[in-house]
Amino acid sequence: MSEESSSNLTEALHSSPFMRACRHEPVPYTPIWLMRQAGRYMREYREVRARTSFLELCKTPDLAAEVTVNAVERLGVDAAIIFADILLIIEPMGIELEFTKGEGPVIHNPIRSPADLDRLREVADVGALDFVFEAIKRTRRDLPGNIPLIGFCGAPFTIASYIVEGGGSKNYIHTKHLMYNDSGAWHALMSLISRALAKYLNAQIAAGAQAVQLFDSWVGCLSPDDYREYVLRHTQSVIRNITPGTPVIHFGTGTAAFLELMREAGGDVIGLDWRVRLDEAWQRLGHDVGVMGNLDPVALCANEDHIRKAAKKILNQAGGQLGHIFNLGHGILPETAVENVIALVGAVHEMSHR
Ligand code: CP3
Repeated sequence: MSEESSSNLTEALHSSPFMRACRHEPVPYTPIWLMRQAGRYMREYREVRARTSFLELCKTPDLAAEVTVNAVERLGVDAAIIFADILLIIEPMGIELEFTKGEGPVIHNPIRSPADLDRLREVADVGALDFVFEAIKRTRRDLPGNIPLIGFCGAPFTIASYIVEGGGSKNYIHTKHLMYNDSGAWHALMSLISRALAKYLNAQIAAGAQAVQLFDSWVGCLSPDDYREYVLRHTQSVIRNITPGTPVIHFGTGTAAFLELMREAGGDVIGLDWRVRLDEAWQRLGHDVGVMGNLDPVALCANEDHIRKAAKKILNQAGGQLGHIFNLGHGILPETAVENVIALVGAVHEMSHR
């Protein structure tokens, strides 16, 4: 382990259930955290957002730290995730980013053609994202000493899809158009993004993150062959360039058809959505890698009895084997009742107690 990463690990952090699960070590109970655990379903978050735009919130380290720490304390989860967004990295690339109410992210100058690629800047240093590193430092300072902090970025495909589509998408027509019609330009775009992402994650680790997660939220729109040809090597290069000794969670949705390829791309823990059975997915991946997941986020909109039963099914599928981190299969929905999330965390701790 390098000095840089080991210096981020006090004994209390090192022996926390989340870090132990990342390293495939025995745990006293299954650790749980939830994607989007700091978000609109929580009153405290909505109060902060009433005064601040989403991007301002991301760029104000004290507020970002406040919403992160508050979610951990409220829910009783075993890890924190830094409050930021996967799209922040595209601004230093020269892409203009806006979050519009109701529509989500909008990019006004998308990259559609090989000629557009010339407008894209290499992210030589990640200093433009200092507010993220500052937020990590303050969050680390304010978190309980035994709660690990997860840094994150989007995976190359998901970032490329936003840069090319100009926002969210249903069929990814522009992205696939570029991929199929000009694979040279596609690979150049993916390489540029991947170089920026590796630097960004390493700076998050240097600032105090104990683990990192790559979100490949939209990669499930690809066929397995296309994943192999157009994506795998790029995600692999990001993961290979991450500071050694820092656990990496590699998450995607809709990836049931090519989990083996995601594993080949890398990661200590593979994040699963709810469209696969956890036991079957883990069997295919091999038990020498960890798994994270995989409750349907909508299950949290049901009653407590259902939530408990659904969580129990997942714990049974994990079978108490080393390397399971409980999570949803995707982010918490804004419609979710906080009490249900608290009930889930308690139920997972109680039912998985060894
Ligand atoms: O998990 C956490 O608590 C940490 C914070 C976090 C956010 N975004 C805050 C956010 C994380 C880890 C992300 C990652 C992210 N951002 C992803 C990958 C995860 C996923 O859900 O697949 C993606 C695809 C994005 C891009 C993004 N950001 C979209 C599509 C949207 C709009 C959709 C929506 O939910 O409104 C955002 C906005 C966003 N990012 C919000 C939050 C809390 C809501 C903004 C608000 O307060 O209005």
